[in-house]
Amino acid sequence: PQVTAVTGYPLTHTFSPEIHNAAFKAAKIRGRYVKIPSAPEELLLIPEVIRKYRIIGMNVTIPHKESVIPLLKRIDPLAASAGAVNTIRNSPAGLEGYNTDMLGIAASLASVDMDPKGAEALIIGAGGAAKAAAAYLKVAGARLSITNRTHSRAETLAELFGARAVKLEDLAPAYQLILNATPAGMSGFEHCSPVPHTIFTKDTVVMDMIYDPEVTPLLAAAKAAGVRACINGKTMLIEQAAASFTLWTGITPDRAVMRKAFEARAA
Ligand code: ATR
Repeated sequence: PQVTAVTGYPLTHTFSPEIHNAAFKAAKIRGRYVKIPSAPEELLLIPEVIRKYRIIGMNVTIPHKESVIPLLKRIDPLAASAGAVNTIRNSPAGLEGYNTDMLGIAASLASVDMDPKGAEALIIGAGGAAKAAAAYLKVAGARLSITNRTHSRAETLAELFGARAVKLEDLAPAYQLILNATPAGMSGFEHCSPVPHTIFTKDTVVMDMIYDPEVTPLLAAAKAAGVRACINGKTMLIEQAAASFTLWTGITPDRAVMRKAFEARAA
């Protein structure tokens, strides 16, 4: 079979095996997606594992998305702009790194007709997820602001991408796009919204990267304020998985099947 995998640490919460294995089955490919946990000190062994077991592709998740880069032969320009890789392809020329999280963000925004070009966009958060969002929105031509609980981290990220760092208390209703890249509102985390609810307008598209719960406090408040569109993290999750699957197999997977697998796992 064609073997694919995910590495990260820990790997308890991932929905990816169910999503990819459903896609393999629907495509009638003899394929398998397995979990290969690796603690930080074990990450160095991953390239050898990939070659030894002829793994055709691997997803890389927290906490390795940045530290995996030096282990790869070639980094796709989009992934390089984010300084983060979530997908490895085992090609004849060596291991290549891609970032399909960014493609997932792009597809999510496209699904609600949000073209970031020239738009005033606000990213909430300053971690790895926010970095991928900033890199994509910059490439897509948005005018970028970043806000974060810890302002100094917003400043560091803003400097990296030529964005503005805005303090939470200085936020105004000035954005066509607001994208949450923090875990605030996620199941198991604080049930709260990461920004004041006075910043929504009728023209705002609000995206939350969280997919559990489907409606976060942020999205509920945005909806109540009558914003242009709301989107949660489910589309991003499915689309990044689909883009990785295509990189590995050359096949466009059945998104409906992948969504169904997601829902079965979430239930
Ligand atoms: P990831 O790589 O998944 O983005 P991270 O690097 O730990 O994870 O970053 C998490 C982000 O969510 C940070 O911006 C963090 O804010 P701080 O820089 O102040 O730590 C933010 N975050 C986490 N929990 C939060 C909460 N309850 N409310 C608001 N922001 C939160």
